[in-house]
Amino acid sequence: MLKGQVVSGDFGKIVMRVKAAAPVELGELVVIEENGEKFILQVYDLLYGSQISPQNLEMVAGMSLEEGGFQMLDEQLRNYQLALLKPVLTTSGQSKMCKKLPPFFTKVRAITKEDLLFMTKPLHPLYLGMLRSGSTALDFDLFLPGKETLSHHILIPASTGKGKSNLMSCMLWGLTSGDVAGVLVLDPHDEYYGRVGLGLKDHPHHDKVCYYTPARPPPGARTLKVNLLKLKPEYFQGAIALSDPQRQCLFVYYKKFKTEWIRAILEERRIENVQFHEDTISVVKRKLLALLDLDFESGQFHCNGIFDDVAGMNTITEICLELERGKTVIIDTSYFSGSLEIMVGSIIASEIFDKYKYYKRLGQLEEKPVVSIVLEEAPRVLGKKVLEQGSNIFDSIAREGRKFKIGLVAITQLPSEIPKNILANMNTKIILGMEMGSERLAVIESSPQDLSQDNRNIASLDKGEAIVTSTFTRFAVPVKIPLFSEYVKSAKKKEDVEVSFMGMGE
Ligand SMILES: Nc1ncnc2c1ncn2[C@@H]1O[C@H](COP(=O)(O)OP(=O)(O)OP(=O)(O)O)[C@@H](O)[C@H]1O
Ligand SMILES: [Mg+2]
Repeated sequence: MLKGQVVSGDFGKIVMRVKAAAPVELGELVVIEENGEKFILQVYDLLYGSQISPQNLEMVAGMSLEEGGFQMLDEQLRNYQLALLKPVLTTSGQSKMCKKLPPFFTKVRAITKEDLLFMTKPLHPLYLGMLRSGSTALDFDLFLPGKETLSHHILIPASTGKGKSNLMSCMLWGLTSGDVAGVLVLDPHDEYYGRVGLGLKDHPHHDKVCYYTPARPPPGARTLKVNLLKLKPEYFQGAIALSDPQRQCLFVYYKKFKTEWIRAILEERRIENVQFHEDTISVVKRKLLALLDLDFESGQFHCNGIFDDVAGMNTITEICLELERGKTVIIDTSYFSGSLEIMVGSIIASEIFDKYKYYKRLGQLEEKPVVSIVLEEAPRVLGKKVLEQGSNIFDSIAREGRKFKIGLVAITQLPSEIPKNILANMNTKIILGMEMGSERLAVIESSPQDLSQDNRNIASLDKGEAIVTSTFTRFAVPVKIPLFSEYVKSAKKKEDVEVSFMGMGE
């Protein structure tokens, strides 16, 4: 379908006159084909054009408003819309970055499925949605190379209600079907397993979904208990605020008493040649008891929360094993305070990170699946303020996790709170609608592709509409993410078809 014709401009700003009967939208993809070369371009701004001087236009408008029924001669020829386009790529044989201007005065047409055949399905696909042109979804599925994308971190920034959780649910469903990665989900809203309503529990491979919750586990789920002996001082980093002496106190006790260190602090055991201020010890004690939800009386623990002095010896090891087997592990942290959630997350993340470092030393990392850690409201652990108090495990993973096949999926409404160097390390960004200019800017500045002209485009994204900018795509790809319930329906249908095909083969 003809969309318009190039009339002027420069490389980053090609001006097209829009055909009146074929209006274009912000974000729409269009194609110029000439002499066997093909250019894909994207609309990033729209404006009015007219052959009539502004004064005359005002005059004509006045006549039509005040006198009524006034018609201009050849109105469609004289008044029109102009679209500003930026070249996205050229496809002549192989797809390439665009370095040339398309020929002048050429016709521009709508994009079709055939224009995109250069985008092939990768070996370990991570499904995101359908390619989108403006607000129309094209019948073309978009996949990213799953292993690389996940181990190089994903950022999902969006304002509230724009579909972050919906996108995550779809991604988790797809990952559970394949064998791309093990996924750890820290779920502060308890929304992904689907305790009530649709969720991962309804997945046909529900044996690949593990659900840990501190309260009333539904059938098939497990109770989350962690043994006190498994705790290490570094897990408290970022979870609670500690002064320098208090932090040293934890480390000194850990060094001296090893796994018994928490009991030792609570019993105020003395350490030779080391003197802590009495206040320090008592504050540390109080903080530990509060965070771990314990009472300690005459040498006896009373455990009210998830930390226990008897149970939970193997929980963390088990979770790590499940991740190594490529399963999806969901931890319901909706009952926890923010600091407790961070602590539980740190424990598991540190354990799996250490294990993978160990595998790398043994040369066994190749055989292991990628592990991806999903963080909702990521600035709680990756925020500038948190990191000023000291580095934590999540920031270590953001910086060097990819070397050990461990990646983050950071979901946030406030990307500007995450330091620039971490944002830049997130090599894939799935940008949903963002109303706040400052937040958009933070993402645009740290994008793998040049999005400097897409500010308006991002602001105008509707629920479920996204722009995917990644070192693993050739350009910033507009995507329509499916609604989870509909995605599940169609995924199940597909699976049924595949199963019945297999059945016929036997
Ligand atoms: N891809 C989509 N297509 C259609 N509707 C969608 C899509 N994604 C989300 N929605 C609608 O938007 C609502 C909010 O989505 P969701 O809960 O995923 O947003 P969110 O970004 O996670 O919000 P919050 O910041 O509150 O966590 C959903 O209940 C759904 O009705
Ligand atoms: Mg959400």
